Amino acid sequence: MTMTTDQNGGVQGYTFYQIGLHWLIALLVFGQLIFGESMTESIEAAEEGTSVSTLEGNLASMHYYVGIAILVLVAVRIVLRIKNGAPPPPAETSGAIELAGRISHWLFYALLVVVPVTGLLGYYYGDPYGEWHSFAKPVFIGLIALHVAASLYHQLWRKDGLLMRMLKPR
Ligand code: HEM
Ligand code: HEM
Repeated sequence: MTMTTDQNGGVQGYTFYQIGLHWLIALLVFGQLIFGESMTESIEAAEEGTSVSTLEGNLASMHYYVGIAILVLVAVRIVLRIKNGAPPPPAETSGAIELAGRISHWLFYALLVVVPVTGLLGYYYGDPYGEWHSFAKPVFIGLIALHVAASLYHQLWRKDGLLMRMLKPR
């Protein structure tokens, strides 16, 4: 397969599959962050010999399977990222902003692997993995807030069409 490149030698945009995976994974991660405590509650109840509601129990098993699905999808996504690359930053992006973008994107990929893995370890072996896994919650939320703010800054303030790059395949 040939890759379309611009004058910088970088690819022109993200592919359909990269974009699809970005939004699918984002949606699943939001669900995990919102309903994750059902897993904490279920584990505590099991330890104390009490029980949780059917809804909470179902949410906890969903947390398990959706978390593993995220891990698999992220593996595919990282392969596509290495194979297809990413477009260069919009024109006139300063070096510092470009660096911040690169660091935060790779931090996302690291979190998307480390969080499900610590979740699995926490599920089968308990603490400290469970504690590390829970600590990822505020880290994830902070990074998402920064990421959304950066997207809106580009789109609305700089008006460089950055958001469109994650909506329209190359
Ligand atoms: C990207 C994927 C995941 C995200 C964003 C996520 C997020 C969360 C959140 C927000 C909590 C609640 C923490 C709290 O109560 O403060 C939690 C708890 C938990 N999750 Fe996940 N999770 C993910 C994947 C997984 C996977 C794959 C498993 C393994 C089967 C898992 C197992 C657990 C366990 C065992 C707990 C209870 C931790 C404890 O109380 O010690 N998670 N998760
Ligand atoms: C859990 C939620 C999210 C995660 C884990 C996530 C993760 C990522 C990652 C890893 C990249 C880098 C892609 C690459 O170059 O390899 C990226 C790019 C991008 N994300 Fe997100 N994202 C999330 C939510 C969002 C949301 C809600 C928005 C919109 C407001 C958004 C807008 C964008 C845009 C516009 C890019 C492209 C940046 C560019 O072209 O340089 N993301 N995201």
